[in-house]
Amino acid sequence: MSAPAAARNEAAPRGAVLPRLAPVAARMVLFGTGQVGSALLQRIVRVAPRTPEAAALQLVGVANTRRRIASRAALDPAGVLAQLSLAGACATDAEAVLGALGDEGPRIAIDASGSEGLAACHADWLARGIHVVSANKLGQGGPLSRWRAIRTAAAQSGARYGDAATVGAGLPLLRTLRALLAGGDRIEAIAGVLSGSLAWLCANHDGVRPFSARLREARALGYTEPDPREDLSGADVRRKLLILARSAGHALEESAVEVQSLVPAPLAELPLVESEQAYGMLDAPLRLRLHEAQQTGRRLRYVARFEPGRARVGLEALDTADPLAAGGGCDNRVAFWSERYSERPLLIQGPGAGAAVTAAALLDDVLQCLADGGR
Ligand SMILES: NC(=O)c1ccc[n+]([C@@H]2O[C@H](COP(=O)([O-])OP(=O)(O)OC[C@H]3O[C@@H](n4cnc5c(N)ncnc54)[C@H](OP(=O)(O)O)[C@@H]3O)[C@@H](O)[C@H]2O)c1
Repeated sequence: MSAPAAARNEAAPRGAVLPRLAPVAARMVLFGTGQVGSALLQRIVRVAPRTPEAAALQLVGVANTRRRIASRAALDPAGVLAQLSLAGACATDAEAVLGALGDEGPRIAIDASGSEGLAACHADWLARGIHVVSANKLGQGGPLSRWRAIRTAAAQSGARYGDAATVGAGLPLLRTLRALLAGGDRIEAIAGVLSGSLAWLCANHDGVRPFSARLREARALGYTEPDPREDLSGADVRRKLLILARSAGHALEESAVEVQSLVPAPLAELPLVESEQAYGMLDAPLRLRLHEAQQTGRRLRYVARFEPGRARVGLEALDTADPLAAGGGCDNRVAFWSERYSERPLLIQGPGAGAAVTAAALLDDVLQCLADGGR
């Protein structure tokens, strides 16, 4: 395996124009072959011919909850899912997959699952010098102790934690926060529409069709989780707010965020199959909220807000001039107030959901691990 780029540059005379170095070969494993994991494999295949760094990546392990492949030789990203489907069924064993990374050169573990068990391992992987790239919000958006363990392990080992896919599906949210902090700014408040599915539902809930019909439509379009109650409960938005606030330097416990769920208790208690027949329970309360908002010329949005001393997630009726009221489709829209941006917030808006943009964010982070010098 070639030496890290930084090491090879050391031999060059001062002022010399350096030839483009061969990209650092890195070994990586992928956990999760659902929408995001599959889109990542497709993206690697598409991008590799035009990005030498992506072409140099060696995929050596892939796993879902049913099957796994771990190989010392590089696997073909284009054919690995077919190969995986032929592998024998087995219990999940992250260590068996990580073993394929070996002990030398840059090693990257990509978490494209929503697994609590894998999220709990992120800090340990970092401590072992393995870069971690995650779409899984349960790492940094879980308990504060886990957040701290991840940050400490990354700082001590020098391994990188790529998290761009966890909030806003790669929109430059975390990157912007970190750039502001690095420039000496202080983040004073954050507000955002952070769920693509809830953004779509709020924008399309116009009273013409019941909310439950819009929910079925959103589900059919693939905008919601397989169980849409996960979106409507606000739990996912809370994780995203925690990641943003913690990244902005505010150590927030999970319990510090008030969450207003849109799911009535009787609907929350039903098994998945029965819940689908009971979405109508959402209609009356949301019709009322819409009616109240429309009477004052306002727009309903599901908003996450943080300011020191208060963090909350819930439905709000916003003035049409409010920076969070605009935006269409599944767009995320986030406002940062800081010392620098104190009168009017810095706004970032764009598609914040979807497997393709999330996969692109994961690959960006993988390549960034190598741009940082590999290891
Ligand atoms: N979809 C999006 O637009 C989007 C956007 C941003 C972030 N995300 C996040 O990205 C992650 C993946 O989302 P998705 O939409 O791809 O979900 P998905 O389609 O449900 O896929 C999840 C994958 O993870 C696998 N998995 C679960 N536990 C595992 C374990 N312990 N070891 C190995 N594999 C495991 C599942 O295995 P099986 O196939 O065996 O079930 C499945 O292949 C989630 O954390 C999600 O919140 C998604």
